[in-house]
Amino acid sequence: MIEIRNLFKTYGHGSAAVHALEGVDFDVDAGEVVMLMGPSGSGKTTLLSIMGCILRATSGSVKIDGREVASLPEKKLPGVRLEHFGFIFQGFNLFPALTAQENVELTLKLKGRSAREARRQAGELLEQVDLSEKAGRLPSDLSGGQKQRVAIARALAGDPPIILADEPTAALDSQSGLNVMQMLTRLAKQRGRAVVVVTHDSRVLGFADRIVEIADGRICSAELGMEKTA
Ligand SMILES: Nc1ncnc2c1ncn2[C@@H]1O[C@H](COP(=O)(O)OP(=O)(O)O)[C@@H](O)[C@H]1O
Ligand SMILES: [Mg+2]
Repeated sequence: MIEIRNLFKTYGHGSAAVHALEGVDFDVDAGEVVMLMGPSGSGKTTLLSIMGCILRATSGSVKIDGREVASLPEKKLPGVRLEHFGFIFQGFNLFPALTAQENVELTLKLKGRSAREARRQAGELLEQVDLSEKAGRLPSDLSGGQKQRVAIARALAGDPPIILADEPTAALDSQSGLNVMQMLTRLAKQRGRAVVVVTHDSRVLGFADRIVEIADGRICSAELGMEKTA
């Protein structure tokens, strides 16, 4: 589903250059939950952003479902993002002036659903994350865990084949964090979605099919998840 080869990303130029990724190879299959771990500043968000066509690589190959996207012109990227990815990013916050329901509807409308269809599907998605009764609330009325579930409902809108999540449990209590991971794992196992989760959170590592470690912009180890080695 995702095939990354010899990926380099440098921010800035000359003496101010930061080499965030230095020759990364990374693969994710459909139905797989891959956790990406590493210290702060090691390049996790950069890698996830390039994978999700939010950020351009400096060099290297990024294939999504067999199609090379690293060389696509800028104007093609929003379409690739909409078609392939659901994002649960810390920086991708909910729109504060829109209700939970409207936040999810907006993504569905961007994906071409009619207003009526978007309303129906957003309602179903909020039900899946057990938030039906909060559908009319603004994000400011919701707890951290509830907001994260709205973000998940929005990420699942339109059934993208790949879910990318950047520290989705970092701001949550243990129980909410477990619920979020259970939801993401279920998507991978029952619906064949590819799920990539950046995490620092050792409580959720048991949900991984694979754990990939990154340090200083290089992959330093890839190992089986605990379930598989037990
Ligand atoms: N927009 C940017 N401009 C310059 N440097 C950046 C930018 N984003 C990230 N970096 C640098 O790239 C490196 C990797 O950052 P990041 O991918 O955010 O790491 P992580 O998510 O693992 O904490 C860090 O040294 C960071 O300071
Ligand atoms: Mg980060």
